[in-house]
Amino acid sequence: MERMIGVIGGSGVYDIDGLEDARWQAVDSPWGTPSDEILTGRLDGTKMAFLPRHGRGHVLSPSTVPYRANIDALKRLGVTDVVSVSACGSFREEMAPGDFVIVDQFIDRTFAREKSFFGAGCVAHVSVAHPTCGRLAGACLSAARDEGINVHEGGTYLAMEGPQFSSLAESKLYRENWGCDVIGMTNMPEAKLAREAELCYASVAMVTDYDCWHPDHDAVDVGDIVKTLMGNADKARAMVARLPALLGAHSPCDKGCDRALEYAILTAPEKR
Ligand code: ADE
Repeated sequence: MERMIGVIGGSGVYDIDGLEDARWQAVDSPWGTPSDEILTGRLDGTKMAFLPRHGRGHVLSPSTVPYRANIDALKRLGVTDVVSVSACGSFREEMAPGDFVIVDQFIDRTFAREKSFFGAGCVAHVSVAHPTCGRLAGACLSAARDEGINVHEGGTYLAMEGPQFSSLAESKLYRENWGCDVIGMTNMPEAKLAREAELCYASVAMVTDYDCWHPDHDAVDVGDIVKTLMGNADKARAMVARLPALLGAHSPCDKGCDRALEYAILTAPEKR
């Protein structure tokens, strides 16, 4: 099997120099229409696919992103490794705006999204004890470090429904009581669905703000996020451009992401 890196993220990430045979492709999925067409091409010889999570022009809110269609469309294209690039708020002084966090845990507080490919007709329970792929996350960490980005290894991401930001009480609860490091609205159920689809998944969260807990900073607004994201686009693109060389040729995932369904399906084969 050939490696194909899928990147789900915003506009700054897919305008990559040196992407050969680049073309936007519409991919159909029985799970709905993906957020947008997918930009495919080759970077340093490695197949790449870029999917704008919110659609070009940012037309989809976090609750209306078609997460199942997106993951399924990437899988159908042949993607083996999914790198999520997204904005987040920070609960830690040292995780400052402009920094990247390689997230390795999630607390999923979303409630208005379809979260599984399984249910009607076929029942499966995959493990998300370790929801990101250590190998892919390690490559993202190295790529970010090689680019001189201030990057943090590991962090717990609180996935909230939105679209409103958190209240002060919520922000303090997540930070002080639940031990969360960052907060965002998009990585769940994306990470869970990637695991069900047996795809390696890593999350690169770009800190844009201190949410609303920090006594020396105003509560987050969209202006803060856009400003920091614009400044981060070059860094994110440069990090992604290093991934083909770092990941090399495809091989079975040593963490087992590509075999996640092996012991997960309960429904008898003759009933499926
Ligand atoms: N995305 C960026 N900053 C955020 C915050 N503070 N809360 C939720 N999502 C975010």
